[in-house]
Amino acid sequence: MSDAFGEMVVFSGNAHRELARRICDYLNVPVGRVEVFKFANDNTFVRILQNVRQRDVFIVQPTAEPVNDRIMEMLIMIDAAQRASAGRITAVIPYYSYARTDKKDQPRVPITARLIADLLETAGTDRVIMVDLHAAQVQGFFRVPVDELTALPKQVEYFQEKGLENSVVVATDIGISKRARDFADRMNAPLAIIEKRRTSNHDDVETLNVIGNVDGRAAILFDDEISTGGTVIAAAEALARFGATDIYACATHGVLPEDASQRLQQTPEIREVVVTDTVPVNGNKLTPQITVLSIADLLGEAISRIHRGESVGAMFT
Ligand code: R5P
Repeated sequence: MSDAFGEMVVFSGNAHRELARRICDYLNVPVGRVEVFKFANDNTFVRILQNVRQRDVFIVQPTAEPVNDRIMEMLIMIDAAQRASAGRITAVIPYYSYARTDKKDQPRVPITARLIADLLETAGTDRVIMVDLHAAQVQGFFRVPVDELTALPKQVEYFQEKGLENSVVVATDIGISKRARDFADRMNAPLAIIEKRRTSNHDDVETLNVIGNVDGRAAILFDDEISTGGTVIAAAEALARFGATDIYACATHGVLPEDASQRLQQTPEIREVVVTDTVPVNGNKLTPQITVLSIADLLGEAISRIHRGESVGAMFT
C-alpha cells in the first residue's frame, strides 16, 4: 500500500467492463461496486456502492462508442468519487478518441482533445493513464500527470512469433512514421511509408504512393488506430500494386464502427488485422480476420506501480 493513499479501488464505467475485469484479475482485486445507468429522461446517473474515502481510485473507461455518453459517464463517476472524498482519482482512458481533434488546422474549428482534458480536470481527475495517443503532445493538454503507455512490446512479440521472413514495416502516413520506425527497429525490418492525403474532413482517403521497397516482402501496415478501415484498405491496395506479398494491418485501437470489420474482411489484400483490447472488439466487429491482443496486464502493471509510487517508464526500458 502507498503511504499517501489508502487501498486501491478499480471501477469501470459501461465502456469496457471486460477490460476492467481483466485488469482487476491481474491486480488480484475485485472490480469496484458502482451503478452507472441512464434515467428515462436520458440523464446519466452514478452511485458508488462502497466506501472510497481516502482510497486510491482508478476509473477504467475508454472513450469507445457511444463516445459522448462514455465521456459523460466518466466525468460523472469522477465527480461522484471526488464528492465521496476519494484520496486520489486516476482516469484510466485506454482509448482517447478526441485525440484526433488536437489542433486548429482550419479556421473556426475546436480543439476537443483540450476541451475534454479540461473537463476531466474540472471533475476532479488527479492523474491520467492512456495508451498510444494519436499525438503524444496531447499529454500536454493536461496539467495533471499523464502516463502514456504503449502496446508496442505486445505488437512486436506477436509479430516476432509469426517468424515472417523478408518483412517490411509500413507506416500508413508520415504522422505515424516515428512510431512505425520504433516498431521496425524492434522487428529488425526496414521501414516504408505510405504517402497519404485526406481529401476532406470526412472519412474518405486518397492513397498516392509508397515510399520505400515493399516488392516481394511481407508487409506489416502500422497505425495508431483503425476506424472505418479506409486508411489501411487503401494502403493495402497500394502495397499490393507495389508488389508486397502477405499484408498485415497492425494498430493499437480497433475502433471499427458500423461495417468496418466487414469492409476489411472483403479486402483480400489484408491477411490479418491485429489490434488490442483498448476498445471492445466483439460481436459483429470480431471477424475471423481480426486478432485482439490484450493490454490488460500492461494497464494493471501501470496501475500497480502508480499505486506504489514506482516508475511506470521502467516498464518500457
Ligand atoms: C489518422 O491520422 C490515424 O493515424 C489513422 O490513420 C486513422 O484514424 C484511421 O482512420 P480510418 O480507419 O477511418 O481510415
